[in-house]
Amino acid sequence: MNAATPTVPNLAERRIVLGVTGGIAAYKAADLTRRLLEAGAEVQVVMTAGAQEFVTPLTFQALSGRPVRTSLLDPAAEAAMGHIELARWPDLILIAPASADVIARLAHGLADDLLSTLCLATDKPIAIAPAMNRLMWANPATQANVATLVARGVQVIGPGAGAQACGEIGDGRMTEPLQIREAVAQRFGHGPLSGVKAVVTAGPTREPIDPVRFITNRSSGKMGYALAAALRALGAEVTLLSGPTSLATPAGVTRIDIETAQELLDAALQTARGAQIFVGAAAVADYRVDGVADEKIKKNDATLQLTLHRNPDVISAVREQDARLFVAGFAAETEKLEEHARGKLTRKKLDLIAANWVGRGRAFDRDDNALSVYWPGGGRELPHASKTEIARQLAALIAERFHARAAAPA
Ligand code: C5P
Repeated sequence: MNAATPTVPNLAERRIVLGVTGGIAAYKAADLTRRLLEAGAEVQVVMTAGAQEFVTPLTFQALSGRPVRTSLLDPAAEAAMGHIELARWPDLILIAPASADVIARLAHGLADDLLSTLCLATDKPIAIAPAMNRLMWANPATQANVATLVARGVQVIGPGAGAQACGEIGDGRMTEPLQIREAVAQRFGHGPLSGVKAVVTAGPTREPIDPVRFITNRSSGKMGYALAAALRALGAEVTLLSGPTSLATPAGVTRIDIETAQELLDAALQTARGAQIFVGAAAVADYRVDGVADEKIKKNDATLQLTLHRNPDVISAVREQDARLFVAGFAAETEKLEEHARGKLTRKKLDLIAANWVGRGRAFDRDDNALSVYWPGGGRELPHASKTEIARQLAALIAERFHARAAAPA
């Protein structure tokens, strides 16, 4: 009976610092260590003081074949490999389980133990698999901390829902070790989009009026950034064309900054050449100001007239340039969601459109979202969830439709 035997991904020569923090799920980190080693990874375990209350360092030492690091101020361990060196050593720092406490300390940049110091001193990607009581996970403080980490490019794996060790049922269970390993393998380019180049546009555009003023919109860029990170996690090589935002570039993603719709158009046409997937998540200004003033406009008159010109439609131009490109767009609507979204799908010759309700505090500049996704002949609802989770589901759907289209007869 080996029907349930998972395929073992190839993590040969991948170095992983596995941070284990205090929580009952720490026992599962032992299995995770074994699974990562089985896939060929080198694993250096770092335990917090809390973790050692649940499992002993000896367990991880026996499994990983390496002495476990537990202290920032251990002279012998520091002599063998200093913590700054250790911060540079891995290809990934994976924290599993990640307690509410470590998430909070990372979000605030604390460095009062070895694991938090490594996270602050590294330029390598960080992934966390949270595990905690459902109310601790749902607490706005934890959610805000997670959002901060996501905005900095930290990959969040799970948590899952189900029965918890505390006897409650809900979100907060650590993702199972095999699934964590799968997520790790995908980010190293073994995912369904490995070898695929994707371009994602995100954020607002800015259309200047004069040297100090501009017209823009409420787009925060969060959805596009989360999608860029999610496509990257599926193995794609991602270029993010970003309007002005305050977000950090997701790890492993190449970012190109643009301001105006025209700049976005130029960058999109250029980067889409040689790409297989294009996702237009940017809120492109529909109009630009005719004759941008060279000097600051003075308030001499009671009224001021601006003439606006229609901007080019970036996504349509990209589609016109390459009929084989898989092109996905967004539609933000205040009424008749499906009708309007399907209209855009057809008119702009898209392969997929993700539609959401906007206005009255919905979608724009928020951390959560819900999407109705349509493609020619089909559709799927992605129910209300964090933008990170929605992005993960949308990226998986894009990968599915991309492969379905590639397999279909021309
Ligand atoms: O027509 P509408 O703006 O609703 O279409 C939304 C979709 O088209 C989004 O994917 C958006 O990024 C894209 N778009 C574009 N260039 C424009 C306007 C919208 O690429 N000028």
